[in-house]
Amino acid sequence: MFIAIDGPDGTGKTMLSKLLVERLNEKNLNAIYTFEPTHSPLGLKIREIIKTNGNPKVVLDLFLKDREEHLETFIRPAINEGKIIVCDRYKLSTVCYQENPEQSMEKLIELNDKFVNPDIYFVMYFDEKDVDLVFERIESRGTNPDVYDTKVWINKVNRNFKEMSSHYKNLTFINTNQTVEEILSQMISTIETYFQNVKKRMYEV
Ligand code: TMP
Repeated sequence: MFIAIDGPDGTGKTMLSKLLVERLNEKNLNAIYTFEPTHSPLGLKIREIIKTNGNPKVVLDLFLKDREEHLETFIRPAINEGKIIVCDRYKLSTVCYQENPEQSMEKLIELNDKFVNPDIYFVMYFDEKDVDLVFERIESRGTNPDVYDTKVWINKVNRNFKEMSSHYKNLTFINTNQTVEEILSQMISTIETYFQNVKKRMYEV
């Protein structure tokens, strides 16, 4: 099973993805955490480039190559072993972050169509009035910021993520303005419903 968790920076994706993996493993569900950009040489190159204003076409190409390699070498084999993969960022990040006048959302969606859709895709978002809170979270990390870590950018990216509902089916949107426990229980109940539906379909055959 393949679960992705996506959304703007500062919405708690990484912490939530790791906690979700822990909770699933407590239920003996054999879950593993992974992330994009990865820690492969390609992924590390991306992390360097996005600290500066890299050429958008080059950056886009690197994200797509990193995703392809991640799927082939890590995600697919793990799915085949029956694991639950929880991937921190996936294709919607490319559509929402790499969008610009030369790289339309439609084009970016098309470029990502070759990559499998997750069974469950959680999309974190925030209400625009909460942008200061989200930005504070980013600043409090104390890590080297990348070019996407500005309020204007985060608002734009957040709007892009919200718009994804008109481009993709079956996204589960989660407002970051809730407690961690509330968010986790929403995630677990979405996963349980998914399993129940799979079971129902098996008995129908
Ligand atoms: P991280 O903060 O989740 O480690 O991700 C690093 C940055 O990479 C983050 O600002 C979002 C950006 N990103 C893209 O711009 N496009 C993508 O396709 C992915 C996976 C990440």
